[in-house]
Amino acid sequence: MVVSQENNWEHNEVVGALRSLEALEMVALESKDIERWKVSEEGREYARNGLPEIQVLNVVRSTDGCTSETLNDKLGALAKIGMGAAMKAGLVRMDKASNTIVVGDNAKSDSSYSLSDALATVSSLAEKESADVIEAKVSKSMLDDLKKRKLVNKVKIVYYIVSRGVQFSTEIQKSETTLTVDMVQKSNLWKSVSFKKYNLNALGADITGGSLHPLMKVRTEIRNILMNMGFEEMPTNRYMESSFWNFDSLFQPQQHPARDAHDTFFIESPAQANEIPSDYLERVKAMHEVGGAGSIGWRYDWSEEESRKNILRTHTTAVSARVLYEIGQEYKKTGSFRPRKCFSIDRVFRNESLDATHLAEFHQVEGFVVDYGLNLGNLIGEIKEFFRRMGMEQLSFKPAYNPYTEPSMEIFAFHPGLGKRIEIGNSGIFRPEMLAPMGFPENVSVIAWGLSVERPTMIKYGISNIRDLFGHKMDVTSLKYSPLCWFNESRDEDMVANE
Ligand code: PHE
Repeated sequence: MVVSQENNWEHNEVVGALRSLEALEMVALESKDIERWKVSEEGREYARNGLPEIQVLNVVRSTDGCTSETLNDKLGALAKIGMGAAMKAGLVRMDKASNTIVVGDNAKSDSSYSLSDALATVSSLAEKESADVIEAKVSKSMLDDLKKRKLVNKVKIVYYIVSRGVQFSTEIQKSETTLTVDMVQKSNLWKSVSFKKYNLNALGADITGGSLHPLMKVRTEIRNILMNMGFEEMPTNRYMESSFWNFDSLFQPQQHPARDAHDTFFIESPAQANEIPSDYLERVKAMHEVGGAGSIGWRYDWSEEESRKNILRTHTTAVSARVLYEIGQEYKKTGSFRPRKCFSIDRVFRNESLDATHLAEFHQVEGFVVDYGLNLGNLIGEIKEFFRRMGMEQLSFKPAYNPYTEPSMEIFAFHPGLGKRIEIGNSGIFRPEMLAPMGFPENVSVIAWGLSVERPTMIKYGISNIRDLFGHKMDVTSLKYSPLCWFNESRDEDMVANE
């Protein structure tokens, strides 16, 4: 007896009820698969009234001078599909002379008739019979045709053979869910009541709570890599910066296009920065105007007002400049110099036109090494090691220009997913014009590089539009489900180190 059919119950509801009874051990279930043909809503309608092309043919047969208006009148929405199919099958054709639709050459023999019959057969048997019974009566090609037209579909149904379980009874006894002190001490009830069994297969409720943004996970990764390479982190806690630290201290001339409102966000209030060390400011001014440390400078009238303009920092090189100034001052005071490796990871702002790879705010990683006599070879070595630990090898370098580094190099890496080289960073050796006013001796040099955090994150997480990663359009629920992405190389290193 098929319980659901006999009682006109929903198969799935019956399965649910049986599972509850099984949990109480009142029934035992054995599952079996069965294949069935199902007829769609549309299929059932055609099984009753004939396929649309047959309906068209019937109208054409029964009307003199049938036109498409006649078809529309009689068949409504079906007229159009029916007419198309009927013309294609040659059941009807247009008679040019009379401009009417007439019976076509295939009307006597066409397989549409048998297809209509086949659909009627499937429809009458589908509810009761399994797939093989239907397949014995209706040919495979007919079933395939009907399936292609989405009128029928073969589905697998799981059903259960039900037998009595060890706790079988016709009434559900409420099982206890908790063993209480009373049951044990007072009533002795624990001996007679039945306890609900634990369902050890039930899934636990989703654990909710905070989840880390992919950028933060990658930041942690990068931070670990840099710490392992001996870098210390610089304080980055100022989104607002003066033009002085962002540009002037880096020997970036005041006419430079990057200092335009098209590229940089200027702050209205407070518009001007006050706390710039005055003697350093004078030395920077002199370097821009007349040069020094072997340079002839930019040779223009440097404006203090321009340098005091507050902006949202456009790069974390402003952070490096502040820290390098401190290191230079320390040298000046004590006469002793300690080589340092420093890094920062934080947000920067640019007045960009937004597209799939550009936002007005993004994150930068930046690192520098300050020591005696560093050269381009040291820079390349440091960069290669850093990217190797991020899992990026096959680097190449291209000469570039930055106002504050000489020489400068863009860094490219081969991206296996994209099958080509992509730019991943920028680097260089800070110019003496930048270092001398800070107080560094001539033979100390600083190698430095920077990159965005977004780019490697997009690569690691397979994100192709930056707006899906960061900004108000990001789907916050995706955070919950985004996996942890470790850079393999650095993990392996850590593991080896911990052994
Ligand atoms: N400031 C550069 C940028 O924003 C990166 C850079 C840092 C280049 C340090 C050279 C040295 O792209």
